[in-house]
Amino acid sequence: MPAAIYPGSFDPLTNGHLSLIQRGLKMFDRLIVALLVNPKKQPLFTIEERVTMIRDAVNDPRIEIDSFQGLLVDYAQKKGVNTMLRGLRAVSDFEYEFQLANMNRKLRPDIETVFMMTGEDYFYVSSNLVREVASLGGNVEGLVPPNVLKKLKAKYSGGKP
Ligand code: PNS
Repeated sequence: MPAAIYPGSFDPLTNGHLSLIQRGLKMFDRLIVALLVNPKKQPLFTIEERVTMIRDAVNDPRIEIDSFQGLLVDYAQKKGVNTMLRGLRAVSDFEYEFQLANMNRKLRPDIETVFMMTGEDYFYVSSNLVREVASLGGNVEGLVPPNVLKKLKAKYSGGKP
């Protein structure tokens, strides 16, 4: 299988994402980690910070790190890649992911989404929860790569967001 796009917000990258990237590389020759630039959302980290954090955590020539605006299917067409990779943590992810995958296929019938189950070590880890715990002074060591941990600590130094 040649290439897949692994899209997401990655605000910030977690070890769950990293694990999926590593496992994805067993299935695909090349992965494009594509960060959504969403003007409607106020992220914790800027797009540049998020790209840099991923670049620092993932050092593999088979990975391209990129950002996109607008529809994922349009971005996929521009990149010439038809396969999306997404992680499924729990049953609660299923409905949203089911909608996303089917809407994307409705918009572009040649788009396929491949799901990988998140490993048991990270099934409870989400960027949202990591941000919340870190903002309240909790320890997220082991849930995010060391470089992301450093950035989170810097963002929340003093314990305040
Ligand atoms: O990490 P996330 O926030 O769960 O990722 C969601 C993402 C970026 C994959 C999804 O919101 C997306 O693809 N957005 C781009 C806009 C789009 O194509 N919307 C229609 C998809 S049904």
